[in-house]
Amino acid sequence: MNRRIDPDGTIVILTGAGISRESGLDTFRCKDGIWSKVDLEDVATPEAFVRNPKMVQDFYNARRAQLVDEKPQPNPGHLALAKLEKNWPGRVLIVTQNIDNLHELAGNENIIHMHGELMKVRCNHCKTLLIWEKGLHIDTACPDCHSTGSLRPHIVWFGEIPLQMEDIYEALEDADLFISIGTSGNVYPAAGFVQAVKQIGDCHSVELNLDPSNGATLFDETIYGPASEVVPEFVDTLLSDIKNQT
Ligand code: APR
Repeated sequence: MNRRIDPDGTIVILTGAGISRESGLDTFRCKDGIWSKVDLEDVATPEAFVRNPKMVQDFYNARRAQLVDEKPQPNPGHLALAKLEKNWPGRVLIVTQNIDNLHELAGNENIIHMHGELMKVRCNHCKTLLIWEKGLHIDTACPDCHSTGSLRPHIVWFGEIPLQMEDIYEALEDADLFISIGTSGNVYPAAGFVQAVKQIGDCHSVELNLDPSNGATLFDETIYGPASEVVPEFVDTLLSDIKNQT
């Protein structure tokens, strides 16, 4: 497989729930996944938040409490990406669909959370963005503007526009290597990134996943297995390739 990437090349990495699975966090669409237990229409849309804000807040409070109380740790898949960002001479950007904090805990710094972050909330009234580790309730007052009922999880719900899309497409334009890890390719625009890099051309695309995603056939290269195994192996080949080139 022709995968010679220049050492000063740009690597864009899309991650999904699968990379956090071995850290103990559920995926959405695998067997017993989150959406098999709760209807996304009840907890992950703006309409749900208007209809039943308490149900939505409780859903995210439970997932936030899991991060805060159980303190899931990055697994070798996350740690390998931190090693790549540290040792790759060119730019490495993680675009994650995940709302957990495991890429940060692993040590990556160049991260875009396109679907938001569980440990942040924002105020619909004064637009402030706050780090938030406790529960959020419908009568919780905004610490900045003191209005109540205006705080919401800093999460992109279905039907809302993902965050930093301009920055993401700019990076995809520049990418020499696009790696997709632990995502089923069900949700756009993330599921369309591989198509985008193919149209831009001159970018090698790789899928590292437990099973073939919906977009598997679009990738130049596919490697299947648990992220904690296939990601470190892939990163090591990338870094040894450039050692041989320099
Ligand atoms: N290692 C690698 N991949 C794994 C592992 C693992 N240990 N376990 C599961 N996977 C793969 C599955 O094969 C599947 O393709 O991770 C993927 C998880 O898919 P989804 O549950 O659909 O998660 P994701 O693709 O991240 O969902 C995208 O949908 O509900 C929205 O906003 C939510 O960000 C989420 C988006």
